[in-house]
Amino acid sequence: MTATLIDGAAIARELYADFKQRVKALASRGVRPGLAAILIGDNPVSEVYVRTKTRACAEVGVHSVEHRFGADCLEHEVIELIESLNANPVIHGILVQLPLPPRLDTGRILQTVDARKDVDGFNWNNLGALVAGHPRFSPCTPLGVVTMLDREKIAVEGSNAVVIGRSVIVGKPMALMLIARGATVTVCNSKTRELQEYTSRADIVVAAAGKPGLVKGSMLKPGAVVIDVGINRLPNGKLAGDVDFASASRVASRITPVPGGVGRMTVAMLIANTITAAERSIAKPYAARASR
Ligand code: GUN
Repeated sequence: MTATLIDGAAIARELYADFKQRVKALASRGVRPGLAAILIGDNPVSEVYVRTKTRACAEVGVHSVEHRFGADCLEHEVIELIESLNANPVIHGILVQLPLPPRLDTGRILQTVDARKDVDGFNWNNLGALVAGHPRFSPCTPLGVVTMLDREKIAVEGSNAVVIGRSVIVGKPMALMLIARGATVTVCNSKTRELQEYTSRADIVVAAAGKPGLVKGSMLKPGAVVIDVGINRLPNGKLAGDVDFASASRVASRITPVPGGVGRMTVAMLIANTITAAERSIAKPYAARASR
């Protein structure tokens, strides 16, 4: 069997057309969505991610600003910036690019972001809402994955899904979103013994362990849907996912490429969440809506 590609770039392009309409509708009400990106230190990968995100904002008409700190910055400087952005009415979304230098308390910094502007969905209020089954802002990468599955009409309800990875950014929220859609979910990680015992029973495999080539075709159930979240830079400079594409695409029915797969969806979901934050900022309060 030769798998069909799930083209994240093409899906993202379709979504962007809708984003532009939503930005236009907001403009007619005098609001331009605004995103503040905070970049700390000189991690070249983070630099690329933030540049990609701010370019995507420009493409759909979302205002964006970048705030940079040196690797030696003080935690209270970052906290003070976030507090000022929380209070800034032209900023609807705040993103702190991770990872932070280990000196800094990532948890404390992320908790400072107002939950209403937490377009990354990393604030505990938003993660808790996801656990409770009432998501507000969900982390962008797993949200991108379920959006892909929905748009490709891949049946999640009743499926066996295996998530490889347990991070707060991808693995854990991914599992919650699949559970919410009725999948039976197993969460593995890069140290799981006999990983193939789990993957070989899975209808859907989401690989997010950060290990190039971890998932091979021989570990998959024929016809499985394979979503590769890994973006690993190899010593030869090339990008590789967590899935060995050559062997997996001979066994899977659908598969995402790297690049051009999930990465494009992550950025699209950040834009979606920022526009949603702007829309909510002018929506009627819940009480007023409920009493209508
Ligand atoms: N680092 C890796 N992925 C992400 C992400 O989705 N958001 C942020 N802020 N940092 C990241």
